[in-house]
Order: sequence, then structure tokens, then C-alpha cells
Amino acid sequence: METPLLQVRDLEKRYGSRVGCIGVSFDLWPGEVLAIVGESGSGKTTLLSCISARLEPTAGSVSYAMRDGVTRNLATLTEAERRLLMRTDWGFVHQNPADGLRMRVSAGANVGERLMAVGQRHYGTLRETAQDWLGRVEIAGSRIDDRPTEFSGGMRQRLQIARNLVTHPRLVFMDEPTGGLDVSVQARVLDLLRGLVADLGLSVIIVTHDLAVARLLSQRMIVMKEGRVVEEGLTDRVLDDPHHPYTQLLVASIPES
Ligand SMILES: Nc1ncnc2c1ncn2[C@@H]1O[C@H](COP(=O)(O)OP(=O)(O)OP(=O)(O)O)[C@@H](O)[C@H]1O
Ligand SMILES: [Mg+2]
Repeated sequence: METPLLQVRDLEKRYGSRVGCIGVSFDLWPGEVLAIVGESGSGKTTLLSCISARLEPTAGSVSYAMRDGVTRNLATLTEAERRLLMRTDWGFVHQNPADGLRMRVSAGANVGERLMAVGQRHYGTLRETAQDWLGRVEIAGSRIDDRPTEFSGGMRQRLQIARNLVTHPRLVFMDEPTGGLDVSVQARVLDLLRGLVADLGLSVIIVTHDLAVARLLSQRMIVMKEGRVVEEGLTDRVLDDPHHPYTQLLVASIPES
């Protein structure tokens, strides 16, 4: 029997008296892409931050099947274990690339740094792997010594993706990864992401308010409203036959394409 990669149970986060998210439970299976959708302020980022151990929940639990096969409650990890997880087994793609990149060091160093964190020290190998990954995210190898400050928005986002995937994480969290990009650039980054996720067999939790992004990338989705999950199911089912009135409203508001 396969075990879930991630198990979220009755997760709750309050900011004082304000609810960030409440009563959230779901499993994520290996190789699955799960989208979290909902309007602004519905608790998507709060939920993602709690699941990825960047924010401490007020109540409930998140358990993760570590590489050694043991499922651990994230709240019981030491700070060192948590940091190791974030540097190796997990990736986090931020909406704003500047939050996920070191803007003052070269593109090659941005990718190489994550590799060094998993123990790779050989300069030639670091550079070669960085070069290879720049290619995979369609950045010309000749730009390896340029800093992200010299890159376009789309290039920065692709560099952030390379930096995250180079260590072959098993689980990648993404918060509106194409939210800050022009529509034409968005399509290209999404296409690239979809290819990489399939090639690497990644498990992904992606936050988006864009149902087209959910449709393109995810197999399953969760719909949030006012901090609660109001609907959950296979992406095609939820989008083609939404059950909850709020989801029906969201789906109805997508422009016909
Ligand atoms: N640091 C914070 N302090 C206090 N309240 C917060 C904080 N962060 C979020 N909240 C509140 O928690 C609720 C959920 O916010 P959250 O950022 O998770 O929403 P979201 O779905 O990610 O929205 P968006 O689509 O705009 O990014 C909101 O009511 C918000 O005001
Ligand atoms: Mg958000």
C-alpha cells in the first residue's frame, strides 16, 4: 500500500481573532499535483505557509513521509531537520522571484548554491550542473555569470524554478508562480513547469486564483472560501461540474475561451 506524501489534519491558523484558515484536511499522494484555489483573502497563502512549515499552525497537524519512509509530524522536527527538508526534499517557488533568488549573485551561483547545500563541492560539477539546468529552463548558457537583476521577469521566474528543482526535491510548493508575469510570458512558464513536473514525477501543491492554471497543471483541487475548504475533487470534475455554489460562481466568472 502506498502512503500519502503529506497528510493535513484539521489545520487551523488564526492571526489574533482573524481566521487565516480553519478545519483543513487532505492527503497529497506521491506524484500528484494539487491546486489550491479561491478568491483573494480566502486563506491560500496561509494554508501553504502552514503546510510548508514556514508558519506555525494554531491547531491541527501536518505529517510528511520523509525520504527514509518514516512519516513525521512536522511540529516534532528539530529546526535543523526542518531546514534540511527545505533545502533538499522540498522546493518553494514564490510569486515574486526576488523572494526566492539571491539577486546579487550570478545565475550559476543561484543554482549551484542549492547543490552545495546537499553536499556537492566540486566546482566543475557545480558549474556543469548549473549550465545544464539553465538550459532546461531555456536560459542561454552564456548568461550563467549574469545576475538575476539583469534578467527579465520571465527569466527570473525560470531561474527560480531551476534553483528549486536542481536538488530533485520530491515536493514543490508554489504560490502563484506566474502571477506577476505578462500573459504571454505566463503561458511559456506554465508550459515549462508542466513539462518539468511530468519529467521529474514531482508532487506539487500550487496556489493560484487562476482556474486555467489549475486546469493546466493539477489533477486535483481544493476550493477555499473564508479560510475553509468548500469543495475538493478531481480538477476536471470540479471545473466541469462544480457542486458548491461558490465554486459555481468562480467557474461561471471564467471568460469563455
Ligand atoms: N500576517 C498576517 N497578519 C494578520 N492577518 C493575516 C496575515 N496574513 C494573512 N492574514 C489574513 O488571513 C486571511 C487569509 O489571508 P491569505 O494571505 O492566506 O489569503 P490568500 O488567499 O493568499 O489571498 P491572496 O489571493 O490575496 O494572496 C486574510 O483575512 C488576511 O487578512
Ligand atoms: Mg496569497
